[in-house]
Amino acid sequence: MRKKLVAGNWKMHGSLAENAALLAALKPALSGIEAVVCVPFPYLAQAQAELAGSSIAWGAQNVSEQAKGAFTGEVSASMLLDFGCTYVIVGHSERRSLYGESDALVASKYVAAQAAGLTPILCVGESLAERESGVTEAVVARQLDAVINAAGVASLAKAVVAYEPVWAIGTGKTASPEQAQAVHAFIRGKIAALDAGVADQLVIQYGGSVKAANAAELMVQPDIDGGLIGGASLVADEFIAICRAAA
Ligand code: G3H
Repeated sequence: MRKKLVAGNWKMHGSLAENAALLAALKPALSGIEAVVCVPFPYLAQAQAELAGSSIAWGAQNVSEQAKGAFTGEVSASMLLDFGCTYVIVGHSERRSLYGESDALVASKYVAAQAAGLTPILCVGESLAERESGVTEAVVARQLDAVINAAGVASLAKAVVAYEPVWAIGTGKTASPEQAQAVHAFIRGKIAALDAGVADQLVIQYGGSVKAANAAELMVQPDIDGGLIGGASLVADEFIAICRAAA
């Protein structure tokens, strides 16, 4: 039986005061429920101070593929470890589309994260144009293959995959439970063809306009093992309800 895992991706939102209020609400409400918040880099110390000893883990939203050196503005995986991170998102569609991250770069970041002992949350997903032209599975397969070729299928035993159709992110258009389940099953089947044990244990999250009102119908799908939550992760009652729906 796979565990379900819900992660919040705060994106570029928050302030010291807003975060303090949000975390103060989440901590008691999610006591005993494993969850994750991925916060902006400057707030990692705050997350560490507030969440240490709780059931909520924390992580970052991006990481350098480099270990150290003259890479102005970058943050290494070992720096994230210094702040107690467990998880880091790699290959979010906003990184891919707005900052030009290629499949190869995402794979390098995934490798760097795992090498430091972090669990990457690897985001994959198709654009609206790709879905409409019928290449959803080909796109997701290509994104997964980049990582499998770089790190091996066994590496997925220490990773989370998040399926996020780009057309559902921040748009209010959630994939239907059936649409999401179909792609999740495709992902698990593709990995099972290489290693059935890894596929069986792999946590595959769904992301894209998940909210309290639609979480339960998504989480009940057999291959949906939690969620990667954007906007709703900034609203305490919403995030709490989504985590409870998955628990
Ligand atoms: O990482 C989270 C996703 O981009 C989903 O964002 O829940 O605001 O649609 P959203």
